[in-house]
Amino acid sequence: MSEKELKRQPRSPSVKTTQILRILGIETSCDETAAAVTENGGKPLSSVVASQIDFHAQYGGVFPEMASRQHILTIYSVIEQALKQAHLSLQEIDAIAVTRGPGLPGSLLVGLNVAKGLALASGKPVIGIHHIEGHIYSAWVETDTATSSLQFPILALIVSGGHTSLILINAHLSYRLLGQTLDDAAGEAFDKVARLLNLSYPGGPSIEKAAQGGNPKAFEFPRAVQKDAWNFSFSGLKTAVLYQIRKLENKHISLPVADLAASFQQAVVDVLVGKTLNAAQTFQAKSVLVAGGVSANKALREQFLIRSTLPVIFPPLDLCTDNALMVACAGYYRYLKGQRDGLDMDAMPTWQLASFT
Ligand code: KG4
Ligand code: ZN
Repeated sequence: MSEKELKRQPRSPSVKTTQILRILGIETSCDETAAAVTENGGKPLSSVVASQIDFHAQYGGVFPEMASRQHILTIYSVIEQALKQAHLSLQEIDAIAVTRGPGLPGSLLVGLNVAKGLALASGKPVIGIHHIEGHIYSAWVETDTATSSLQFPILALIVSGGHTSLILINAHLSYRLLGQTLDDAAGEAFDKVARLLNLSYPGGPSIEKAAQGGNPKAFEFPRAVQKDAWNFSFSGLKTAVLYQIRKLENKHISLPVADLAASFQQAVVDVLVGKTLNAAQTFQAKSVLVAGGVSANKALREQFLIRSTLPVIFPPLDLCTDNALMVACAGYYRYLKGQRDGLDMDAMPTWQLASFT
């Protein structure tokens, strides 16, 4: 397991005024154990991410039972480091925001129970956060990337290993779910196709790397695009890649991995960009936000920037994949709205976005 401390400047100790709100964020929904502190919404004071990627790579994907056990081993030191980096004690934190769902049940429970334990010990409120809302708020974390052009209504594409959702955001915390994947998430498709091509986990970065030397037009893979329908489907594309591989193998042709990776990636990018920009136009969005693990993909970023007439915002690369700054930032807006959750708050592994506005 590798621990990565995001390169953020720790703040120097200062006297706390009443206007300053500091949120401790905790994220354990999948295979990253993360804790971070933000000040007044988007200002990062610290961020620690302990990734389990190296651990799960041997299984070719996330091994849920082991993920929760790894969270247990790491979470206390991750939170301790996040507070230390921020030069704050738990008593100087105003609230604890924690991912409540969706995600792996055992993994969610680790973060949730630690958050509740800290809340009980410190008397601070605990706030449950929807993981997709977290990804959305990665765009409000103050970084070198300008987010000033994020104007409501925003058309958001949240695209990760567990989600592919199109969301219309009319104001802070006000969402309308327009569509989502009917089968595999885009990141899941990257991971599965990478396995078919014998590329390492996680599949997204491996395919992106393999695709660099490939021809994106070498294979014509299907694009499941229904006009005016905002849902996605990636399982047909994954099957088409499988059939193409079998066809080549039956002819004893060695796999053109770069071409297959590039053609697959292009098909995913075409669908994501096309549908998102159509929705942005239909719903008269003023800006487009692309977040979640797959938004780290360079081909996706390039195509959005080439094809969009609206400003397109991507979080910086270290905030595309799971982290706790995004959870703390969402927690700030939920705190201002008055959300306080009870110590009986349970994990919601299949929490639907539409029901949490
Ligand atoms: O947001 P995330 O860390 O976790 C979930 O909430 O699922 O996203 C992880 C997913 C994985 O499926 C991974 O393969 C994909 O994001 N991913 C990428 C890239 N980096 C990560 N997919 C395509 N291109 C990338 N560069
Ligand atoms: Zn995520």
